Amino acid sequence: MSKRRKIAFIGAGNVGATCAHLCFLRSLGDIVLYDIIEGLPQGKALDMLESGPVLGIDVDVSGSTDIRSIEGADCCIVTSGSPRKPGMSRDDLLKINAGVMNEVGKAIRETAPNAFVIVVTNPLDAMVTQIKRVTGFPKNRVVGQAGVLDSARYRTFLARELGVSVDSVNAMVLGGHGDDMVPVRSYTTCGGVPIERLLPQARLDEIEVRTRNGGGEIVELMKTSSYYAAGAAVFRMVEAYMLDKKEVLPCAAYLEGEYGVSGLYAGVPTVIGGNGVEKVVEIELTAAEKKAFESSVAHVRELVNAMDKVLGS
Ligand code: 2OP
Repeated sequence: MSKRRKIAFIGAGNVGATCAHLCFLRSLGDIVLYDIIEGLPQGKALDMLESGPVLGIDVDVSGSTDIRSIEGADCCIVTSGSPRKPGMSRDDLLKINAGVMNEVGKAIRETAPNAFVIVVTNPLDAMVTQIKRVTGFPKNRVVGQAGVLDSARYRTFLARELGVSVDSVNAMVLGGHGDDMVPVRSYTTCGGVPIERLLPQARLDEIEVRTRNGGGEIVELMKTSSYYAAGAAVFRMVEAYMLDKKEVLPCAAYLEGEYGVSGLYAGVPTVIGGNGVEKVVEIELTAAEKKAFESSVAHVRELVNAMDKVLGS
C-alpha cells in the first residue's frame, strides 16, 4: 500500500488530464483518473505511468470508470460535466451540470470525506456552490478555480505588451468567472511599478477586455475550452494545498461577510495551504473596482438562483 497522498481527478478530459500530468511531473502524490467513458481514464493513466521510467517518476497513476476509485483521496479535482453545445441554453447547461455535481458531490462525501475539493466545471460559481451544498464540507475544503486562470491571461497580455518576463507582472482578477470578471488594475504591477504608470489607460482597457473574453477567444479558435492554461491554474492550487505552501491565489471562495458578500462564492484573493482555503484576503478596491465587483457578484447570485430554479423544476 502506497504511503503517498492521493489526488483524484473526477473527469479525465483535457483539463483534468493536463493538470494530472503536471501533478505527475512534480510527483505531488499518487494519481487517480476517473471518468465515465470506458477506456479513457485507464488509457490516459497507463500512458502517463509509462512515461515514468523516461522521467524518473515513481508515483502511481491509475484510471477507472468506478467512482469508488477516488476512495480516501486527499484532494479531488472536479472537471466532469458537459460543455455547452449548439442549441443548448445556459439553463440547460446549468441543469445538466448541477445534476452531475449532485452525483459527484455525494460520491466525494461518501468516499473521500476528508478531501480538499477544487471545482472547475462551468458555470463555475454555481457548480462550486452545489458541490459545497451536497458534500456539506466546511468552506475551507471546497473552492473553485477561476481566478488563477483569469489572472494568468491578464499577466500574459501585460507581459507581452511590455516585453518583460511574466514573472515580473503581478496581477489578479476577481469576481465571478464570467464576462464581467474584474481585473484589479490598482494592484497590478510590473517590477513593483504600478501598471498605470507604464501603460496608457486606453491600452489597459483593451487588454482587460481581452482578458474577460480570454476563455471565449480560445473556444473560438479550437472549438473547445482552454486546457493548458486551465490545467496549469488548477495545478497551482493543488500544489499549494499538497505542499502546504500558503500561497496567495485568487480563487472562488465561500464568503461570509468578506467584501460585503454573504452566503455566496466569488473570486477573491485567498491563502491556499494544507488546510485548504486558510484565509480570504481582504483588500481595498477603488470605487470603480468595487462597483464592478458588486455587479459581477450580483450575476453570480442570479446564476445560483437560476440553478435553484432549474433544479426545482
Ligand atoms: C476558460 O475560461 C472555459 O472556464 C474556461 O477557459
